[in-house]
Amino acid sequence: MAEIVIVPDRAAAGALVAEQIAKLVTERPDAVLGLATGSTPLPVYEALRERLADVDVSRVRGFALDEYVGIDPAHPESYASVIRREVVEPLGLSPELIRTPPAHDEDLAGAGARYEAEIAAAGGIDLQILGIGTDGHIGFNEPGSSFASRTRIKTLTEQTREDNARFFDSIDDVPRHCLTQGLGTIHDARHLVLLAFGEGKAEALAGAVEGPVTASLPGSAIQLHPHVTVVVDEAAASQLRFADYYRHAYANKPEWQTI
Ligand code: PGA
Repeated sequence: MAEIVIVPDRAAAGALVAEQIAKLVTERPDAVLGLATGSTPLPVYEALRERLADVDVSRVRGFALDEYVGIDPAHPESYASVIRREVVEPLGLSPELIRTPPAHDEDLAGAGARYEAEIAAAGGIDLQILGIGTDGHIGFNEPGSSFASRTRIKTLTEQTREDNARFFDSIDDVPRHCLTQGLGTIHDARHLVLLAFGEGKAEALAGAVEGPVTASLPGSAIQLHPHVTVVVDEAAASQLRFADYYRHAYANKPEWQTI
């Protein structure tokens, strides 16, 4: 099962995950990171600014989970812009080594396969950061997504568009389509780190961690992965049936074990 770590707040979650990423990059300077966007991963990126300050990150590679289709890559809310602003620039990563799904390519039909080929050529993703949508999506794999899916075009649910409207002037500006890594792509990453904060995520998180494994709740795909760490605050953990056990397991974790 996934390891569930319940922390007091976002900053504690950011520090915990940043520590693991710093360790990975120190051991393997050309590590391949799977990068998420949205509000959830921001505490990790903030903590990494300090944690990676003295680490050589010039060879770190990265692949974003998803990208909107239909907005200009220069738009401030394209994920190419968000990753550059929140991750590449503040952490001093090499821009040419950090990729986002090529959702602006003319040959959109072949864009997913090209992204998959790039990830494969990099040797796969070492550590994939994930958030979870209120509808249970990971990446932009909306309910019903195949567990075997690869990077492809998806239609966003209206719930996702409403959730993301806060980043745009109006909901009419939120794209309807995206190019997202599939659940099969995410499953291939060697370590999944899923974060969730706030009560709004509690139901989706409980379904993903403790509910039946079902395409109706794509986040439940994490139950099929051999190495998953879930880092959540108390509010997001509030609907977890076995929360006390997770706390007990983490408090009694052998010292030699990392997340
Ligand atoms: P959020 O989105 O981090 O902005 O809440 C998470 C997601 O949709 O995966």
